[in-house]
Amino acid sequence: MITIKSDEEVKIMREAGRIVGQVLQILAAEAKPGVTARDLDKIVRKEYVKRGCIPTFLGYGKPPYPATVCISVNDELVHGIPTDRVIKEGDIVSLDLGATFKGFVGDSAITIGVGEITPEAQKLIDVTRESLMRGIGVARPGERLGVISNAIGEYIESQGYGVVREYVGHGVGRQMHEEPQVPNYGPPDRGPVLRRGMVLALEPMVTIGDWHTKTLKDQWTVSTIDGSLCAHFEHTIAITDGEAEILTLP
Ligand code: MF3
Ligand code: CO
Repeated sequence: MITIKSDEEVKIMREAGRIVGQVLQILAAEAKPGVTARDLDKIVRKEYVKRGCIPTFLGYGKPPYPATVCISVNDELVHGIPTDRVIKEGDIVSLDLGATFKGFVGDSAITIGVGEITPEAQKLIDVTRESLMRGIGVARPGERLGVISNAIGEYIESQGYGVVREYVGHGVGRQMHEEPQVPNYGPPDRGPVLRRGMVLALEPMVTIGDWHTKTLKDQWTVSTIDGSLCAHFEHTIAITDGEAEILTLP
């Protein structure tokens, strides 16, 4: 069942989303050469205590996710467990964050370059971010969900990149993962009709090479099967009467 949020609930989700946006901004500034992913995880914990929110990811799933943030480097796509691995100049790092505030979840991710990165990596990041913005741009009441999927996927493929199909976006609310699933590919005339009060996490995952993925031995970290670079952007958005509202901005 797709839950429709009241204006009051969207207001709380706006607060949850803003926290995620702000903490992501802080993390992005701290992700410099020499820091470890574990250092960044600690920063998130501290910021969450300050803001009175709960780390949505901690303890989630099976085996229970062991950290507050997912940090995925280079050929790692999503769900990277923060370790003592040192982040270095030229890496591209995906930071994925969830916060539960007053019972509602905000979910957002960005991919950033550390120091100077190759033009190839920069283009991948730019195309992935733009695909998310195109999906948000067509998310209007009365349209079918497939319109979002189609806008995202068509743009990515038009740029010659791979669209990951094994992971998708999702509804979000009191639970991090609610219906509907939001694929990043497929025809526009598919899926439920969008309505005011639906809240969705759109999250395109893009590869330079083969879009197939594998899960590492830690049972969480997902990387590309061919070791190619990949990127991930995510926003939580609310369907309104007009243009969708991005809830996870700082
Ligand atoms: N943003 C991701 C998602 O939407 C992160 C969840 S993975 C977790 O699925 F296990 F860390 F929670
Ligand atoms: Co998500």
